[in-house]
Amino acid sequence: MATKTELSVSVGTPAEEAGLKPFKVTLNIRRYNPETGDEAFWQDFDVELYATDRVLDALHKIKWEQDGSLAFRRSCAHGVCGSDAMRINGRNRLACKTLIKDLDITQPIYVEAIKGLPLEKDLIVDMEPFFESFREVQPFLVSNTPPAGGRERLQSIAERERFDDTTKCILCAACTTSCPVFWTDGQYFGPAAIVNAHRFIFDSRDENAAARLEILNDKEGVWRCRTTFNCTDACPRGIQVTKAIAEVKAAVVRGRP
Ligand code: SF4
Ligand code: FES
Repeated sequence: MATKTELSVSVGTPAEEAGLKPFKVTLNIRRYNPETGDEAFWQDFDVELYATDRVLDALHKIKWEQDGSLAFRRSCAHGVCGSDAMRINGRNRLACKTLIKDLDITQPIYVEAIKGLPLEKDLIVDMEPFFESFREVQPFLVSNTPPAGGRERLQSIAERERFDDTTKCILCAACTTSCPVFWTDGQYFGPAAIVNAHRFIFDSRDENAAARLEILNDKEGVWRCRTTFNCTDACPRGIQVTKAIAEVKAAVVRGRP
Protein backbone atom coordinates (compact mmCIF):
# COMPACT_ATOMS: atom_id res chain seq x y z
CA MET A 1 0.00 0.00 0.00
CA ALA A 2 1.36 3.43 -0.96
CA THR A 3 2.30 5.72 1.92
CA LYS A 4 0.93 9.22 1.97
CA THR A 5 3.54 11.99 1.77
CA GLU A 6 2.63 15.11 3.72
CA LEU A 7 3.65 18.40 2.20
CA SER A 8 3.93 21.44 4.40
CA VAL A 9 2.70 24.53 2.55
CA SER A 10 3.88 27.88 3.77
CA VAL A 11 1.20 30.57 3.96
CA GLY A 12 3.01 33.51 5.53
CA THR A 13 5.13 36.19 3.91
CA PRO A 14 8.91 35.71 4.16
CA ALA A 15 8.96 38.41 6.87
CA GLU A 16 6.29 36.60 8.93
CA GLU A 17 8.08 33.28 8.52
CA ALA A 18 11.29 34.90 9.74
CA GLY A 19 9.39 35.94 12.90
CA LEU A 20 9.56 39.68 12.18
CA LYS A 21 6.94 41.89 13.80
CA PRO A 22 5.11 44.50 11.71
CA PHE A 23 4.95 48.11 12.81
CA LYS A 24 2.96 51.15 11.74
CA VAL A 25 4.61 53.69 9.46
CA THR A 26 3.10 56.93 8.20
CA LEU A 27 3.84 57.97 4.66
CA ASN A 28 3.10 61.55 3.72
CA ILE A 29 2.73 61.55 -0.06
CA ARG A 30 2.46 64.60 -2.30
CA ARG A 31 -0.59 64.03 -4.48
CA TYR A 32 -1.54 65.76 -7.70
CA ASN A 33 -4.39 65.00 -10.06
CA PRO A 34 -4.45 67.09 -13.26
CA GLU A 35 -8.07 66.06 -13.88
CA THR A 36 -9.41 67.90 -10.84
CA GLY A 37 -7.42 71.07 -11.45
CA ASP A 38 -6.65 71.25 -7.71
CA GLU A 39 -3.25 72.25 -6.37
CA ALA A 40 -0.90 69.46 -5.28
CA PHE A 41 -1.39 68.51 -1.62
CA TRP A 42 0.16 66.23 1.02
CA GLN A 43 -1.78 63.16 2.13
CA ASP A 44 -1.03 60.84 5.08
CA PHE A 45 -1.30 57.06 4.85
CA ASP A 46 -0.68 54.66 7.76
CA VAL A 47 0.72 51.30 6.66
CA GLU A 48 1.76 48.12 8.49
CA LEU A 49 5.27 47.25 7.36
CA TYR A 50 8.23 45.06 8.23
CA ALA A 51 11.81 46.22 8.61
CA THR A 52 12.67 44.29 5.45
CA ASP A 53 10.13 46.25 3.39
CA ARG A 54 11.14 49.01 1.04
CA VAL A 55 9.39 52.29 0.28
CA LEU A 56 8.16 50.65 -2.94
CA ASP A 57 6.43 47.95 -0.86
CA ALA A 58 4.73 50.67 1.19
CA LEU A 59 3.50 52.38 -1.98
CA HIS A 60 2.18 49.06 -3.29
CA LYS A 61 0.33 48.40 -0.01
CA ILE A 62 -1.28 51.84 -0.17
CA LYS A 63 -2.27 51.41 -3.81
CA TRP A 64 -3.59 47.87 -3.41
CA GLU A 65 -5.29 48.22 -0.02
CA GLN A 66 -6.18 51.88 0.52
CA ASP A 67 -6.21 54.08 -2.57
CA GLY A 68 -6.01 52.58 -6.05
CA SER A 69 -5.71 56.03 -7.60
CA LEU A 70 -2.17 56.55 -6.25
CA ALA A 71 0.08 56.87 -9.31
CA PHE A 72 3.77 55.97 -9.47
CA ARG A 73 6.10 54.20 -11.89
CA ARG A 74 7.98 51.01 -11.23
CA SER A 75 8.94 47.99 -13.26
CA CYS A 76 11.79 45.74 -12.10
CA ALA A 77 11.48 46.48 -8.35
CA HIS A 78 15.19 45.63 -8.01
CA GLY A 79 17.22 48.70 -8.89
CA VAL A 80 17.69 47.88 -12.56
CA CYS A 81 15.10 49.70 -14.68
CA GLY A 82 15.44 53.15 -13.11
CA SER A 83 11.73 53.94 -13.27
CA ASP A 84 10.97 54.65 -9.57
CA ALA A 85 13.23 57.57 -8.73
CA MET A 86 11.42 59.88 -6.29
CA ARG A 87 12.18 62.29 -3.47
CA ILE A 88 12.10 60.42 -0.16
CA ASN A 89 12.57 62.65 2.88
CA GLY A 90 13.97 65.34 0.57
CA ARG A 91 16.56 63.15 -1.17
CA ASN A 92 16.36 61.57 -4.61
CA ARG A 93 16.34 57.79 -4.27
CA LEU A 94 14.92 54.68 -5.89
CA ALA A 95 11.86 53.55 -3.90
CA CYS A 96 12.80 49.90 -4.58
CA LYS A 97 16.24 50.34 -3.02
CA THR A 98 15.21 52.34 0.05
CA LEU A 99 14.63 50.11 3.06
CA ILE A 100 12.12 51.27 5.65
CA LYS A 101 14.55 50.29 8.42
CA ASP A 102 17.06 52.86 7.13
CA LEU A 103 14.58 55.72 7.57
CA ASP A 104 13.46 57.45 10.78
CA ILE A 105 10.01 55.92 11.23
CA THR A 106 9.26 57.96 14.36
CA GLN A 107 8.43 60.69 11.82
CA PRO A 108 6.27 60.46 8.69
CA ILE A 109 8.21 59.48 5.58
CA TYR A 110 7.79 62.24 3.00
CA VAL A 111 7.49 61.03 -0.59
CA GLU A 112 7.12 63.28 -3.62
CA ALA A 113 7.94 63.36 -7.33
CA ILE A 114 11.45 64.25 -8.52
CA LYS A 115 11.87 67.98 -9.19
CA GLY A 116 12.49 69.96 -12.37
CA LEU A 117 10.42 67.87 -14.80
CA PRO A 118 6.72 68.51 -15.57
CA LEU A 119 4.48 66.81 -13.01
CA GLU A 120 1.90 64.51 -14.59
CA LYS A 121 0.22 62.80 -11.64
CA ASP A 122 1.20 62.08 -8.01
CA LEU A 123 4.75 60.65 -8.25
CA ILE A 124 4.89 60.55 -12.05
CA VAL A 125 6.73 63.18 -14.07
CA ASP A 126 7.08 63.66 -17.82
CA MET A 127 10.52 62.20 -18.58
CA GLU A 128 10.58 63.41 -22.19
CA PRO A 129 12.75 66.55 -21.58
CA PHE A 130 15.23 64.30 -19.76
CA PHE A 131 15.38 61.78 -22.64
CA GLU A 132 15.59 64.59 -25.19
CA SER A 133 18.88 65.75 -23.63
CA PHE A 134 20.05 62.13 -23.47
CA ARG A 135 19.37 61.63 -27.18
CA GLU A 136 21.11 64.89 -28.12
CA VAL A 137 24.52 63.68 -26.92
CA GLN A 138 24.43 60.70 -29.32
CA PRO A 139 24.50 57.91 -26.71
CA PHE A 140 25.63 55.22 -29.12
CA LEU A 141 28.89 54.05 -30.66
CA VAL A 142 29.83 55.86 -33.87
CA SER A 143 32.56 54.30 -35.98
CA ASN A 144 32.86 54.93 -39.69
CA THR A 145 36.10 53.11 -40.39
CA PRO A 146 36.04 49.33 -40.76
CA PRO A 147 37.61 47.37 -37.88
CA ALA A 148 41.16 46.12 -38.32
CA GLY A 149 41.09 42.84 -40.23
CA GLY A 150 37.39 43.44 -40.95
CA ARG A 151 36.33 41.75 -37.71
CA GLU A 152 36.22 42.91 -34.06
CA ARG A 153 37.10 46.34 -32.68
CA LEU A 154 39.56 45.26 -30.05
CA GLN A 155 40.06 47.17 -26.81
CA SER A 156 42.58 46.68 -24.00
CA ILE A 157 41.49 46.20 -20.39
CA ALA A 158 42.81 49.69 -19.58
CA GLU A 159 40.86 51.23 -22.47
CA ARG A 160 37.66 49.51 -21.29
CA GLU A 161 38.32 50.59 -17.71
CA ARG A 162 38.47 54.23 -18.83
CA PHE A 163 34.67 54.50 -19.11
CA ASP A 164 33.56 51.57 -16.94
CA ASP A 165 31.90 53.73 -14.28
CA THR A 166 29.60 55.53 -16.69
CA THR A 167 28.36 52.28 -18.28
CA LYS A 168 26.41 51.62 -15.07
CA CYS A 169 23.81 54.35 -15.66
CA ILE A 170 20.17 53.17 -15.59
CA LEU A 171 18.72 56.54 -16.69
CA CYS A 172 16.70 57.01 -13.52
CA ALA A 173 17.15 60.83 -13.61
CA ALA A 174 17.94 61.00 -9.88
CA CYS A 175 21.11 62.97 -10.63
CA THR A 176 19.66 65.47 -13.11
CA THR A 177 16.61 66.19 -10.95
CA SER A 178 18.73 66.79 -7.84
CA CYS A 179 20.75 69.50 -9.63
CA PRO A 180 19.90 73.10 -8.64
CA VAL A 181 21.06 74.35 -12.06
CA PHE A 182 18.57 72.02 -13.76
CA TRP A 183 15.80 73.20 -11.42
CA THR A 184 16.32 76.83 -12.45
CA ASP A 185 15.15 76.46 -16.05
CA GLY A 186 15.45 72.84 -17.17
CA GLN A 187 17.54 73.89 -20.22
CA TYR A 188 20.83 72.51 -18.88
CA PHE A 189 21.67 69.13 -20.43
CA GLY A 190 22.02 67.79 -16.89
CA PRO A 191 24.33 65.23 -15.29
CA ALA A 192 22.74 62.10 -16.79
CA ALA A 193 23.18 63.28 -20.40
CA ILE A 194 26.82 64.17 -19.65
CA VAL A 195 27.40 60.79 -17.98
CA ASN A 196 26.08 59.04 -21.09
CA ALA A 197 28.17 61.26 -23.36
CA HIS A 198 31.21 60.40 -21.21
CA ARG A 199 30.53 56.70 -21.74
CA PHE A 200 31.16 57.12 -25.50
CA ILE A 201 33.59 60.07 -25.52
CA PHE A 202 36.14 57.93 -23.65
CA ASP A 203 35.47 54.72 -25.58
CA SER A 204 38.59 54.10 -27.72
CA ARG A 205 36.42 52.48 -30.44
CA ASP A 206 34.24 55.55 -30.92
CA GLU A 207 35.03 58.17 -33.58
CA ASN A 208 32.56 60.89 -32.69
CA ALA A 209 33.98 62.31 -29.45
CA ALA A 210 34.68 65.69 -31.08
CA ALA A 211 31.02 66.11 -32.11
CA ARG A 212 29.75 65.23 -28.61
CA LEU A 213 32.25 67.59 -26.99
CA GLU A 214 31.10 70.36 -29.31
CA ILE A 215 27.46 69.69 -28.31
CA LEU A 216 28.40 69.87 -24.61
CA ASN A 217 30.46 73.05 -25.11
CA ASP A 218 27.08 74.78 -25.58
CA LYS A 219 25.86 77.44 -23.12
CA GLU A 220 23.50 74.78 -21.72
CA GLY A 221 26.29 72.21 -21.63
CA VAL A 222 29.00 71.22 -19.16
CA TRP A 223 29.86 74.79 -18.16
CA ARG A 224 26.53 75.15 -16.36
CA CYS A 225 27.73 72.60 -13.78
CA ARG A 226 28.51 74.27 -10.44
CA THR A 227 30.09 71.15 -8.88
CA THR A 228 27.57 70.88 -6.05
CA PHE A 229 27.94 67.06 -5.91
CA ASN A 230 24.15 66.60 -5.49
CA CYS A 231 24.26 64.34 -8.54
CA THR A 232 26.94 62.07 -7.13
CA ASP A 233 25.10 61.83 -3.80
CA ALA A 234 21.83 60.98 -5.57
CA CYS A 235 23.10 58.29 -7.95
CA PRO A 236 21.76 54.87 -6.87
CA ARG A 237 24.44 53.16 -8.95
CA GLY A 238 27.30 54.87 -7.13
CA ILE A 239 28.57 56.51 -10.32
CA GLN A 240 31.10 59.31 -9.72
CA VAL A 241 28.91 61.72 -11.67
CA THR A 242 30.71 64.94 -10.74
CA LYS A 243 34.06 63.37 -11.66
CA ALA A 244 32.67 62.29 -15.04
CA ILE A 245 31.44 65.84 -15.69
CA ALA A 246 34.88 67.22 -14.74
CA GLU A 247 36.54 64.79 -17.18
CA VAL A 248 34.22 65.91 -19.97
CA LYS A 249 34.98 69.58 -19.16
CA ALA A 250 38.71 68.82 -19.39
CA ALA A 251 38.18 67.00 -22.69
CA VAL A 252 36.26 70.01 -24.10
CA VAL A 253 39.32 72.18 -23.38
CA ARG A 254 42.12 69.74 -24.26
CA GLY A 255 40.41 67.15 -26.47
CA ARG A 256 39.95 63.48 -25.63
CA PRO A 257 43.18 62.21 -24.02
S1 SF4 B 1 24.05 58.74 -13.47
FE1 SF4 B 1 23.14 57.63 -11.72
S2 SF4 B 1 21.53 59.02 -10.98
FE2 SF4 B 1 22.08 59.73 -13.02
S3 SF4 B 1 20.59 58.76 -14.39
FE3 SF4 B 1 22.43 57.44 -14.33
S4 SF4 B 1 22.00 55.95 -12.68
FE4 SF4 B 1 20.51 57.61 -12.42
S1 FES C 1 11.56 49.60 -10.01
FE1 FES C 1 13.23 49.33 -11.39
S2 FES C 1 14.80 50.49 -10.46
FE2 FES C 1 13.23 50.53 -8.98
